[in-house]
Amino acid sequence: MCGIVAYIGKREAYPILIKGLKRLEYRGYDSAGVALLNGGLNIFKTKGKVSDLEALTEGKHLTSNLGMGHTRWATHGEPNNVNSHPHVSQNGNLAIIHNGIIENYATIKEELINRGHHFESETDTEVLIHLIEEIQKASNKELDEAVRIALHEVVGAYAIVIISKNDPEKLIGARKGSPMVVGIGEEGEYFIASDASPIIEYTKDVTYLKDSEIAYINKGKLTVKTIDNIEMTPEIQKLEMNLEAIEKGGYEHFMLKEIFEQPKSIGDSLRGRFDPVTGILAMRSLKEYEHKIKNLKRIIIVGCGTSWHAGLVGEYLFEDIARIPVEVEYASEFRYRNPIINEDDLVIAISQSGETADTLAAIELAKEKGATIFGLCNVVGSSIPRSSHAGAYTHAGPEIGVASTKAFTAQVSVLVLWALGFADIRGRLSKSELSKIMAELESIPAKVEKTLACESLTKELAKQFYQSRNFLYLGRGYGFPVALEGALKLKEISYIHAEGYPAAEMKHGPIALIDEEMPVVVIATKSANYEKVMSNIQEVKARKGKVIAIVTEGDTKVSAMADHVIEIPETSDYLEPLVATIPLQLLSYYIALERGCNVDQPRNLAKSVTVE
Ligand code: AGP
Ligand code: GLU
Repeated sequence: MCGIVAYIGKREAYPILIKGLKRLEYRGYDSAGVALLNGGLNIFKTKGKVSDLEALTEGKHLTSNLGMGHTRWATHGEPNNVNSHPHVSQNGNLAIIHNGIIENYATIKEELINRGHHFESETDTEVLIHLIEEIQKASNKELDEAVRIALHEVVGAYAIVIISKNDPEKLIGARKGSPMVVGIGEEGEYFIASDASPIIEYTKDVTYLKDSEIAYINKGKLTVKTIDNIEMTPEIQKLEMNLEAIEKGGYEHFMLKEIFEQPKSIGDSLRGRFDPVTGILAMRSLKEYEHKIKNLKRIIIVGCGTSWHAGLVGEYLFEDIARIPVEVEYASEFRYRNPIINEDDLVIAISQSGETADTLAAIELAKEKGATIFGLCNVVGSSIPRSSHAGAYTHAGPEIGVASTKAFTAQVSVLVLWALGFADIRGRLSKSELSKIMAELESIPAKVEKTLACESLTKELAKQFYQSRNFLYLGRGYGFPVALEGALKLKEISYIHAEGYPAAEMKHGPIALIDEEMPVVVIATKSANYEKVMSNIQEVKARKGKVIAIVTEGDTKVSAMADHVIEIPETSDYLEPLVATIPLQLLSYYIALERGCNVDQPRNLAKSVTVE
């Protein structure tokens, strides 16, 4: 995810770039850099913040009318100076900045190395600029054509900008799966950026590039073509949004934006890691630790808060699909209770920030005892992945809202892949069974997209229930971790007391709480526990509780007994958490809004708890 900004025109480029990168700061990042064309190609880049980049460029020759800047949210290659963008071609004539993931970079890189290319960084991005150079050289193509041909070879998501030392009046931008907007200034002045925030103070005339389109700006003229070389007429729009609205993508809060990003963040977290046709998974952790996984006797999952809830889904997945015993531990308890940890244990540490102190301490303890550590984090190069032996990143992009939403579903997505991979390695599932499950997994982003349509219903329900003093959330099987996560979402942003329970647990005490003042949210989808959950709903109704049921679309039985139903698309049990959680996120968001709470920064909370 993260930020790109570029400028060509009569003004000084550098101030526009730096200010633009600061405008993109909300998107989160770990390094920053600029390229300026002033005779030569001058590159300044560093790990850290935009302010660190400014310090780096202090007193340097920055005069230029053509340049580009980048804030990196690393996916391939940890955050450091070398891996920062811009990256340059072998001959030093071309520079590129990139948002996104080039899935097939390794194959392309191998081919280019065989042709004599040397790479400085570990990034996927550097491979693309070398490929463009190679195509130029090998087929004597103009830069425009070489870019177009190269993009045909790329699998993955990109928003890129390219400048060339030999073309001082040229700026090329292209996108597929990552956002890009072109600002049209006065007299042949153009801007390119990830969103309109770096552009809006200079011009309100913009065009949003579409997937597989390329913007060629040359000698003051903009031409837009597809990667199939079909010229398009750019649709020029007048920017209406103010700066703050742009940063939130037009949503009122980052949390709502991130809830609606989930079809993309789940898709990005799955991208390139499995092939439903062949049933093959492609994850380095599976490959490097195949022997360990084959002989594994136990998995311990550690995490806090929402990450712990994802871990609980993980327990159900690994035991259900891969038949491996799992323990899920609150990291803060695990680290102090003198746990039994064996050398042949695998410990999976789940953390969005990768900096949660209790989780970090838990894996240090496990490492001391000889266990193998897998990290599952959303921030490349953060402390937990650096302390782990292996692992996988969720590619959810920066999560700004304190309440975790897209990180949770991204964590669960990767846990599904690991459970499938472990089952595959241990011969628990055939390739055809794997293919079937993967085909359904591939449909999840679309099912999440469809589920987001329940937003207006959750808004209505929020108006009815925002003054409740307590909520109960009930679920069975895979629905139980979802109930816990729904309760936590409500608690942390609306400050209403809420508890999640296994639905069957009601009769062991909590049912005494039920009365007409108690809203009870029940995960009542058509799962293995459907009939039993219906009995639990009856028990609640018999005590005048108000039932809000999450049901499989088309359900009639639960709908006849619940006070309110929210329908979600049918999924297999083990994929249900990815879809059933969405209405609960929206319900908690709109209840908090009705209560006038600070949704993105709830009281007493921090996005990352780096203290014990
Ligand atoms: C979840 O909405 C909360 N913000 C909190 O429980 C969070 O999940 C927990 O602090 C763990 O954070 P981490 O995933 O960054 O380790
Ligand atoms: N995949 C590229 C990298 O890791 C770009 C990441 C981004 O979108 O910032 O450098």
